[in-house]
Amino acid sequence: MTITLNRRAFCGGLAGAAIARPAWAATDPLIAQKASVQLAPEGYPATPVWSYGGSIPGPLIRVPQGGRVTRRLVNDLEVPTSVHWHGIRIDNAMDGVAGLTQDAVPPGETFDYDFAVPDAGTYWYHAHTNSMEQVARGLSGVLIVDEATPPDVDRDEVLMLDDWLLDPDTGSFVEPFTHPMMMSHGGRTGNLIGVNGQYAYRMQAETGERLRLRLINAANARIFGLKLDGMTGWTVALDGMPLDTPEKVSGEIVLAPAQRVDLIVDITATDGPAGLLMSLDGDTWEALVDVSITGTRPPRDTAPAPLPANPNTALPDLSQARALDMVMEGGAMAGMDSALFQGDRLDFRALIDRGQFWALAGQAGLSETPFAELSRGEVVRVRLDNRTAFPHGMHLHGMHFREVRADGAMGPLRDTILSIPNTPLEIAFTADNPGKWLLHCHMLAHAASGMTTWINVS
Ligand code: C2O
Ligand code: CU
Repeated sequence: MTITLNRRAFCGGLAGAAIARPAWAATDPLIAQKASVQLAPEGYPATPVWSYGGSIPGPLIRVPQGGRVTRRLVNDLEVPTSVHWHGIRIDNAMDGVAGLTQDAVPPGETFDYDFAVPDAGTYWYHAHTNSMEQVARGLSGVLIVDEATPPDVDRDEVLMLDDWLLDPDTGSFVEPFTHPMMMSHGGRTGNLIGVNGQYAYRMQAETGERLRLRLINAANARIFGLKLDGMTGWTVALDGMPLDTPEKVSGEIVLAPAQRVDLIVDITATDGPAGLLMSLDGDTWEALVDVSITGTRPPRDTAPAPLPANPNTALPDLSQARALDMVMEGGAMAGMDSALFQGDRLDFRALIDRGQFWALAGQAGLSETPFAELSRGEVVRVRLDNRTAFPHGMHLHGMHFREVRADGAMGPLRDTILSIPNTPLEIAFTADNPGKWLLHCHMLAHAASGMTTWINVS
């Protein structure tokens, strides 16, 4: 295959170093490739995955705030693919959405991603071509943008939470990925839960140590309910964006698919147990991350300072806002009468026959015209009215938004928000990033079966 030669040549260029080289040699290529990874516990077979660079998660990409991410995607898979940089307020041409912002990259070809990162924080990247299958097979990784002045912590740890639906006898992913039951219900939920690509993830820490924990939910559909064990903590950022004031963690941390939370925690346990617990059914808690205590150091006795604010995060001026309504409907147990699909109005039966179970504002899947045409700088508020029987993690590309609470107060900046059945919520944002931006459910089976729309900012 010619791609092998190309890639070798490219790597050769890297080894040649020192002499002037094209910008694309400045960083390693990001290679989408097959690999075999031990996701299941020891004793079970390894899993054939699709990966970035042969590992799950893919390589950690880390850049300073205000810098650039410069990566050549090399597609060594047998299917077209593209990379989306989730949560980055990015140049639209680099957003990675096949069919909207770029053509999918065919097997054997490359695409050069090169973009500025205005905001510090915890982000991630994942495939955005047939993502329901490609992300489930392993195409995701962590992207961290570092503050110029990092917070006062002893260590900074990334915890990428994921789940995989595997056949325990073969280690392979259960197919098909387009199972109607998954699409019409809660999405594809795994039977094996892990962190950073490992089942039963373990860490070490000392009593009194202060850690920054960057939690990322990379699962296709699972909503994680988490509790701290043997540590006290503060939430310092959500979806990459710092909170004005760190918020003491009490009770459950809920992390919908694609959401992130940055915690600063102090280890209080003296000999264990410590770690992160997850709720399996709302009642029983199980260890997700196990921290073993290896020593003691004097604890800090003050709450952490807020992270430095990112630029351009003023509250949207709601007095000028354009109000839009988005009814979310469909799925098992609620259904819908009809929706538009590829220009035709179809009843629920006919939609299901075309693999469409959901609709946003009366439209199943992408339409020629956007859900909203916004002029640059316009303030918009969107009411998300979940008339389905399921929760949905709704994600907007390119811009962060805030929840407008019932009393008019505005919540923290987010790029993904959990919408609960029969509990309408409203989000508001300033449409200050030009381009075509997706707004979709991050339960990826839902996104693939109707819950995807887009807005245009010009
Ligand atoms: Cu995390 Cu449309 O993506
Ligand atoms: Cu959904």
